[in-house]
Formats: sequence, C-alpha cells, structure tokens
Amino acid sequence: MASAIEVHGLVKRYGSLAAVDGIDFTVGSGAVFAFLGPNGAGKTTTTEILEGLRRRTSGDVRVLGLDPWTEGRPLHRRIGVIPQDFRFFEKITPKEAIEYYRALFHTAVDPGELLAKVELLDKMHARFDTLSGGQKQKLGLALALTNNPEICFLDEPTTGLDPHARRAIWAVIRELKREGRTVFLTTHYLEEAELLAEQVAIIHHGRIIAAGPPSEIIRAHGLPARISLEGPPQLAEHLRLALGLNVTYEAGRAEIELSDKRDALKILSAVETSGLPWQSFQTLQDTLEDVFVRLVGRMDDGALKSEATP
Ligand SMILES: Nc1ncnc2c1ncn2[C@@H]1O[C@H](COP(=O)(O)OP(=O)(O)O)[C@@H](O)[C@H]1O
Ligand SMILES: [Mg+2]
Repeated sequence: MASAIEVHGLVKRYGSLAAVDGIDFTVGSGAVFAFLGPNGAGKTTTTEILEGLRRRTSGDVRVLGLDPWTEGRPLHRRIGVIPQDFRFFEKITPKEAIEYYRALFHTAVDPGELLAKVELLDKMHARFDTLSGGQKQKLGLALALTNNPEICFLDEPTTGLDPHARRAIWAVIRELKREGRTVFLTTHYLEEAELLAEQVAIIHHGRIIAAGPPSEIIRAHGLPARISLEGPPQLAEHLRLALGLNVTYEAGRAEIELSDKRDALKILSAVETSGLPWQSFQTLQDTLEDVFVRLVGRMDDGALKSEATP
C-alpha cells in the first residue's frame, strides 16, 4: 500500500514545551488512521502541521508526497479539513456555505448531492445557528468534501455529540473509506478508533506510546483473554485443581486466564463434571481502552517515580 502520510522525527516546541516530541508514523493510502490521545497530548498540533497550518520545529513530514509547509498551495487543493470545534457564520445556510466553498475551490459540486451524502439535506436552508451539534459537524464534513479530497483530516469530529449523532458521523467516515479516501481522524474515544480505524497511534505527552492495528496493540499490550463465571468458591478451587490454570475468585465470580483457546473447552467440561452450580458465563478480552488506561497509567507511574528519585 502506498503511503498518504509519512512522518519522521517530528518535533514541535512552544517555548520550552515539546508539544510533539519526536514522533514517527505512516498512514497508508485509503486507510482510516486514528490518532488517539487525551486532551493536550499533541493531536491538534500534529494535525495542523500535516495540514500545513502550523510550522514544525524539526523532522520530516510528507503528505501526498508534499511538504505541507513549503508546498501548502498544491496540497490544499487535495485535502479536506474539519478543524477542532468547527464553527461557521451564524446566518449562513448549509447550501450557501457549500456554494461559498465551491467558489473558493473553483469546483462544481452540487450542494444537494453533498448534503445528501452527509445526511443533512433536510437542513439545506436552515441557518447555521439553528443546527444541532451533530448537524454542524455534518456540515463541516460536507465542506471538507467540496474539493473531492484524497485525504480528509477530521479533528475530534464527534466530541460532545450524542450517541446517535456520533453514529451518523461514523457512517460518513465509512463511506469516505469506501470511496477510497484516506481519513486522518483524531479522537479521545477509544471505542471509536477500535470500530473505525485499521491503524491507530496512541499519543501521550507528545510521544507515541503504541501504534499499529488495534487488534495487534491489544495483543501486544493487553491481558490474556479470560473466562469468567458466577458460582460458589468451591468452583474456583475445583477448576484450579482440575486444570492447573490461573484461577482467581472475587465477588462471586471465578476468572480463568486462557493461555490457549482450547483451554475454553477444557474449562467448560471441568465446570460440567464439578456438579457445582454456575451461571452467566462470559469471555473477557481487553479493549483498546483497557490497554490505553494501562499504558498511560504505567507511564505516569514511571514519571512520578523518576521525579521522586533524587
Ligand atoms: N499555540 C500554542 N502555544 C502554546 N502552547 C500550545 C499551543 N497550542 C497547543 N499548545 C500546547 O501544546 C500541547 C498540545 O496541545 P494540542 O496539540 O492542542 O493537544 P490535543 O489536540 O491532543 O488536545 C498542550 O499542552 C497545549 O496546551
Ligand atoms: Mg485537539
């Protein structure tokens, strides 16, 4: 897969603060890439450097083969951008907004077609200040698409939206991918990244602490898969003796770590032969959120310890 974005050793300092502290990543052409991290991690700074809106301190950045800072003009014709906290003129309608962007970019898009794509056709003639948060973001998406971009940069497009509006934005992102566009999405919602992106990078204090497909990050940094079932303490004891597996017991539930997926079958048959009562059988698998919390927690603990050392 050719790469749409390549970043090597990117650094951005604001005075003494290294907001982006030496990051590397590549985004494949046609991929949905999620750039994940808590507030202040460096997501917007990185995004705006890629968009050619901020100058980097050092490092090498290529977007569609171009340097976003020195080759911004040709780049801007080929990318679409929704800034964080997208706002627009209050009295303008979605139709007028698209006509305005169409004139800026000298394109020939049909406002109705574009608004239908983001499911905002019914608000074509509504004033911007009467739109809901989700509708405003949809207009932002439509505007980002007026120039038929190869890459869409979406900086926290779903922050603060209700679950229904978030799902509507996800549907548009999936549609962008189907059309073969590259999507660079920043978010602090981990489940959103897990659902939409084939590649993610987790940024914390300006550094990437994990990167790759969500399933690989979970495999590399997550806890092993577990089986959990409700039953008496003797059930945990029976399984421990019968299977020789790591079994814990807490709050009425036995939890058994799987070192191999075939363990699941052995556990089921051991439960059956125990003759003990059991219910609510569950398999537990770390999510990206579990992994994120663990990685960030470990980093912050490390930082505290090294600060405490004289
Ligand atoms: N223009 C600026 N001047 C000084 N500091 C900034 C500026 N923009 C961002 N920062 C700081 O850089 C860090 C990263 O910010 P940002 O990239 O906006 O993070 P995120 O988008 O992940 O929330 C934060 O500590 C923020 O306060
Ligand atoms: Mg931000």
